[in-house]
Amino acid sequence: MSETFKATQITDTVWWVGAIDWDVRNFHGYRTGRGTTYNAFLIVAEKVTLVDTVKHEFYDEMMARIASVVDPTTIDVIISNHAEMDHTGCLPKTINAVNPSAVYCSKMGQRALVAHFGELDLIAVDEGQQIDLGGATISFVETKMCHWPDSMVTYLHEDELLFSQDAFGMHFASHQRYADELESGAMQYEAAKYYANILLHLSPFIDKTLTKMDGLGLPVKILAPDHGPIYRTPELIDWILSSYARWAAQAPTNKAVVVYDSMWHSTATLAKLIGEGLVEGGVDEVCFLSLAEAHRSDVVTELLEAGALVVGSPTMNNNILPSVADIMTYLKGLKPRNLIGGAFGSFGWSGEAPKHLQAMLEEMGAEKVTDPLRVNYVPDETEQAAAREFGLAIAAALKEKLAT
Ligand code: FEO
Repeated sequence: MSETFKATQITDTVWWVGAIDWDVRNFHGYRTGRGTTYNAFLIVAEKVTLVDTVKHEFYDEMMARIASVVDPTTIDVIISNHAEMDHTGCLPKTINAVNPSAVYCSKMGQRALVAHFGELDLIAVDEGQQIDLGGATISFVETKMCHWPDSMVTYLHEDELLFSQDAFGMHFASHQRYADELESGAMQYEAAKYYANILLHLSPFIDKTLTKMDGLGLPVKILAPDHGPIYRTPELIDWILSSYARWAAQAPTNKAVVVYDSMWHSTATLAKLIGEGLVEGGVDEVCFLSLAEAHRSDVVTELLEAGALVVGSPTMNNNILPSVADIMTYLKGLKPRNLIGGAFGSFGWSGEAPKHLQAMLEEMGAEKVTDPLRVNYVPDETEQAAAREFGLAIAAALKEKLAT
């Protein structure tokens, strides 16, 4: 048995045998400030079963944790709930090492895994199919687009435990394995950040999946995602499920996000004055994000439950600043919905940036309230008052939208 990495026992039959990635900070452009975990689970039934694997460089850590419970070569079954390589990077190596009698995945998973790794001996399972592992019974539910077309979840009936792959996860490296052991503010922020950066654009699919799972009526006592902590208390399971329902609905709240960058502080001054107008107009929360400091993944997190997005850029080379182009491209892909939009910025001689921003906001489906606010060089008193009025107009439109 390994004396290095140890498994964590979750139930009488289930062990966590994943890996902790303390160092990762960039997950396809998402800043993972607290690192992450790649969770894998071992069901120690008559047929020893491994649910998911880990990113390829963490193979040894996973195998050591497995070896702290059982001889890895006794693994009979491997389940791949999701083909993305943070969960399958070491799947071929694991199959070679343990020679399981069966590797189960969804039909789409079979295609995706072969496309990643070449021919593998895989068994595609059907929706709802049940498998007796000898003392433990599992069944599968397809959860397409949560996160990829191949995604499925595995339910362990005896423990009322749902292995939910990416869904309900978060990027949070810790020695604690349970959500109730983490500081709640940090844990809730990371859960929201994960949804905003990974799943927001898939909200219609998340909504469908929640409805489908609800219809199946499977009680969930333990919710075990592939990233971050495991949920084991009814309160936190209710919290994450209701949060997903709310985030998937993308219902606006009385919150505005003002995101901007500035060259010589004029656009920053406009941002502050627009904020004054927003507050005066009754917006409950105004979140300022200067792109000189804020990361795109935090901007989209703040936007998750907001009702208005106000974006500012000075004009540079007839265009918007690269930092603002970055966030607008990122947001376009993540498809935030139900927003009121506003664009502003200072300029020297041509002044295209606010018009470009307005067009981008409209392409994202954000509702236009007022023409872009454009100010030549440094805002004078009249222009400062106009910035305040701009904020007031957006606040009034948001109030009206929330009232209907
Ligand atoms: Fe954690 Fe979609 O992979």
